[in-house]
Amino acid sequence: MTISQENLLDCIGLQPGMLAGQVALITGGGQGIGRETAAALASLGARVAVAELAASGQDTVKQIRDAGGTAIFVRTDVSREEDVAHLAEAVHKDLGTVDLLINNAIRCPVARVVEMDLTTWDQVVAVNLRGAFLTCKAFLPDMIDRKHGTILNMISTDAMPGLSAYIATKQGLSGFSQSLAAEVGGEGVHVVAFAPGMVDTPGIRGVAERLAPLLGMTVEAFLHVSLHPAYEGLMPAAHAAAAAAYLVVNCAGEFHGEVVNGYEILERAGLLQIKVPEVAPEVPGEVQPEDHAEAESIELDSAEKASRALALSRQLQAILDETSSEFNQLPVFIRPMARSGFKSKAGLRLQDWQRLVESLTAQLSRMGAGEPGDQATVPRAGELLEKLAVYYQGVPDETARFTRDADFLEEIAQRTVQRVSAIHSLARILKEIDGQQSVTTKS
Ligand SMILES: NC(=O)c1ccc[n+]([C@@H]2O[C@H](COP(=O)([O-])OP(=O)(O)OC[C@H]3O[C@@H](n4cnc5c(N)ncnc54)[C@H](O)[C@@H]3O)[C@@H](O)[C@H]2O)c1
Repeated sequence: MTISQENLLDCIGLQPGMLAGQVALITGGGQGIGRETAAALASLGARVAVAELAASGQDTVKQIRDAGGTAIFVRTDVSREEDVAHLAEAVHKDLGTVDLLINNAIRCPVARVVEMDLTTWDQVVAVNLRGAFLTCKAFLPDMIDRKHGTILNMISTDAMPGLSAYIATKQGLSGFSQSLAAEVGGEGVHVVAFAPGMVDTPGIRGVAERLAPLLGMTVEAFLHVSLHPAYEGLMPAAHAAAAAAYLVVNCAGEFHGEVVNGYEILERAGLLQIKVPEVAPEVPGEVQPEDHAEAESIELDSAEKASRALALSRQLQAILDETSSEFNQLPVFIRPMARSGFKSKAGLRLQDWQRLVESLTAQLSRMGAGEPGDQATVPRAGELLEKLAVYYQGVPDETARFTRDADFLEEIAQRTVQRVSAIHSLARILKEIDGQQSVTTKS
């Protein structure tokens, strides 16, 4: 995807003039996503202030002016209160009241916790967290007075070894954004924590050499990580900027107080498409595993049902164990995302599901032997299984975000059909067993 930024913005329905009359302030706008965002907002008509520690902020301003836009550079260390006070004065005098504040400046050193000195830790916190606090304090009151404005706090959700200080500040900034959103209420002032994705910038290239070995990757492999099937490697910075521009123009109010991800915005804007792998089609007339299980279960007596449920419960234990080892084969920094995605869709953490199904298996085997046991396990598992099926149904789409390997995606699609079928069969048979138990208890 090598199209000019103007065409890129045009592709997602952003036209020159859409931000006419507005003032945008971008911290750390001297390179990377900050520079591209400054240029994108300027090309939509915003007057732009670049608050940057390095002299490269001036180059961004030159680029914007050469393209016919309006921009100023205010050399700023966002971690210093006096610098931010000076920034507020300069912007107010030269451009007017700020409508869009993009907290983008960062420090991002790579060091394990045991190696990191306190000064480095403090500097990261000062730039990434204190800096955002200071700019919000300086520019938010006008936004509140005018009931108009948008604050984008650039965050990152990808925890990686060697980035503890950076990630701590980014997750802090996400919480800060939620609190701030609740404080300003949302009447015209919107606060969003924006996680752009993995983006090709001088910053990420600068840390690759130290970071890649900590992730167990080569530098080349690290710089080719793609978190979306539309990209063959990192997302170009202009795309992250286009997502930020789309967000502030079209939908910041919808995400007030939330974390929003750049890929989702670009999908919504129509720039990226989700490639959904085909799940094996149903052949007309062919008996599906689920139909077979249903037909079979109708004819089973209660002992046979318990034994069929026991077999399915053991099968589910194996599926969960496989899932656990599949998670452990993912790159280190993707594992937390995979685990939290599992919990939010499947209703329980993976290890809690493993425990639940272990006790279900034990209960079903007691029932098979005619012994009583914990009667609550069967209905509880039965109720939750629907969620687990929903999680597994989503696995092919999720996998397609991380890889374009067609054979692997096909394998995942087939595995998914078998897993979902086993879960549905178990849910159905547990429901029948539970129904029989209630009848027996009542009589
Ligand atoms: N690149 C990615 O893959 C990625 C992923 C997730 C989140 N993000 C977020 O996007 C934003 C931009 O990332 P990037 O990769 O373009 O960054 P980058 O490192 O390329 O650029 C950061 C800019 O901040 C400036 N800066 C540093 N200290 C400053 C200070 N004290 N005051 C003012 N400016 C200062 C630097 O000079 C530089 O121009 C960051 O907030 C980052 O956390 C990036």
